[in-house]
This record gives sequence, structure tokens and C-alpha cells, in this order.
Amino acid sequence: MKSPTAPDNRNTTETETLSPDTAIRIDRVTVRYRLPHERIHTFKEYVIRMLRGQLRMIDHLALRDVSMEVRRGEVLGIVGRNGAGKSTLLKLAARVLQPTEGRIRIRGRVAPLLDVGGGFHPELTGHENIFLNGALLGLSRAEITRRLDSIVEFAELRDCIESPLRTYSSGMIARLGFAIATDVEPDILLIDEILAVGDEKFRAKCAGRIRRFRDAGTTIVLVSHDMHMVRELCGRAVWLNKGRVEGEGTADEIVTLYSRA
Ligand SMILES: Nc1ncnc2c1ncn2[C@@H]1O[C@H](COP(=O)(O)OP(=O)(O)OP(=O)(O)O)[C@@H](O)[C@H]1O
Ligand SMILES: [Mg+2]
Repeated sequence: MKSPTAPDNRNTTETETLSPDTAIRIDRVTVRYRLPHERIHTFKEYVIRMLRGQLRMIDHLALRDVSMEVRRGEVLGIVGRNGAGKSTLLKLAARVLQPTEGRIRIRGRVAPLLDVGGGFHPELTGHENIFLNGALLGLSRAEITRRLDSIVEFAELRDCIESPLRTYSSGMIARLGFAIATDVEPDILLIDEILAVGDEKFRAKCAGRIRRFRDAGTTIVLVSHDMHMVRELCGRAVWLNKGRVEGEGTADEIVTLYSRA
């Protein structure tokens, strides 16, 4: 079933109504998760309860009537407490999740860095995973081959690039993900907290690359609990609180407000 915001028709119909200065437009978006009211241990139990009409569900609103705009070329920070809806918002922008209500319009090629190891396979080597992940980001085999060296070099993983990914630490996986997603030169880069697992030196290197992207006009949405990083890298920021937009302003203003709350 196709909804009006299905990914395959957005480029022709949806972006036409976007102003040229807008990279992402989120209009009155609500995301509702339906969860079983009590703990159900097996799938069989789930089906039996469903057939008997004994399945009591509760609705959980991860995002409530959220509207916001990401302007082209800006670095927007998203801050908020655990469970505020930040990752849900990025999943919508990456189109791995459809909203329950509202609509999302996006202009440009999106490279999502949503979770450590997302778009990777643990049994494949780092080398093979670059091809897998690159393909998911829309690169051809020839393009990935051309970029291979610079990806491995940036990730600083030359010594273990032929080992299976399951032998990597989470920081090493995050490095590889960041190196691939930023090598593809996306129009829009979505980063969900994955830099947090990198060591200090690698975080500084990522921050440098984000700054260069910013200077080159790439649009970046950065979810982070690191207020220092938000202040340093982001121009604007949005504060999400229990699924709602609590504040929106310059990164300095929002970090100050959020830190006081
Ligand atoms: N797949 C899911 N099924 C049910 N509820 C979910 C699901 N994913 C998220 N939620 C709920 O939606 C709300 C928002 O979650 P989300 O992951 O967006 O928060 P977050 O702001 O990214 O938090 P954190 O800072 O911990 O990463 C939470 O209450 C969470 O429990
Ligand atoms: Mg999250």
C-alpha cells in the first residue's frame, strides 16, 4: 500500500512544494507506537489472545504534532532526554519509519548514521561491509572501489579490515560507519549519537570532517547528548521533550535552556 509520503514518489511530487532553501520539512508529525498492555511471552500466546479479543494495547506517542524545518546547509542539533523522540525523528528523516500522522518532505541524497552497526553484517569483513553499506547508500560498485582506500584510511582500520565485523569494538564499527557515510558526500547527513562511542581523538577527527561539510554547504542533523559538541558544531538546535518541540533557537540558547531544565 502506498501512502502519499512513500519514498518512491517523493522526489517528483513532494519536493516540488518545498522552498529551495529547505532540506527537510516536517509538518504536524505524530508517531504512535502500539504496545501490548501486559507482558506476552510467546508469539503463540499473542495470537491466542488476539483471537480471543484479549489483547489490550496501549498507545505510546513518540512524537506529538511536531513541525520543524531544516534549512539547506545548516547544522541542526537535536537535544532532549532519553526517550524524548530524537531517534524517532531521525528515522523519519531517513525514511526507515513512516509517521502515523503528518508529512515529511526531503530534498537531496540522505546518508543516515542511525545506529552503530546499522547497515552492516557481523559475519562479513570490514572490507565487504564497506561494499554492503555503500550499496545501501546508493553507490555503485565502481564508486565504492574508488573510495575504498580513503574510507579505510579515515576509519584507521587498515590492520583489521579483512576481519569479520563481529570482532570489532563498537567504536571501531562507528568509525567505519562514519567514514563510509561521509565519504559519499551526501546532501543531508543524519547523525544519531554514534560519535559518542568513538574515542576522543576520533571524535575530534569526526568533528573536523563535520565542520568541513558544514563549510561546503552540506545539511547536517546531529542528535547528541554532548552539549559541548552541539554548541561547537551546530548553528541552530531543537529541544525535544516527551515527543514535543519544547524549544527552538540558536544552539547556544537551546543548550543553555536545556541544561537549566
Ligand atoms: N520500536 C518501538 N516500539 C515501541 N516504542 C518505541 C519504539 N522505539 C521507540 N519507542 C518509544 O518512543 C519514545 C521515543 O524513543 P526514541 O528512541 O526516539 O528516544 P530518544 O530521544 O532517541 O532517546 P535516547 O536519548 O535514549 O536515544 C520512547 O518512549 C521509546 O520507548
Ligand atoms: Mg536515541
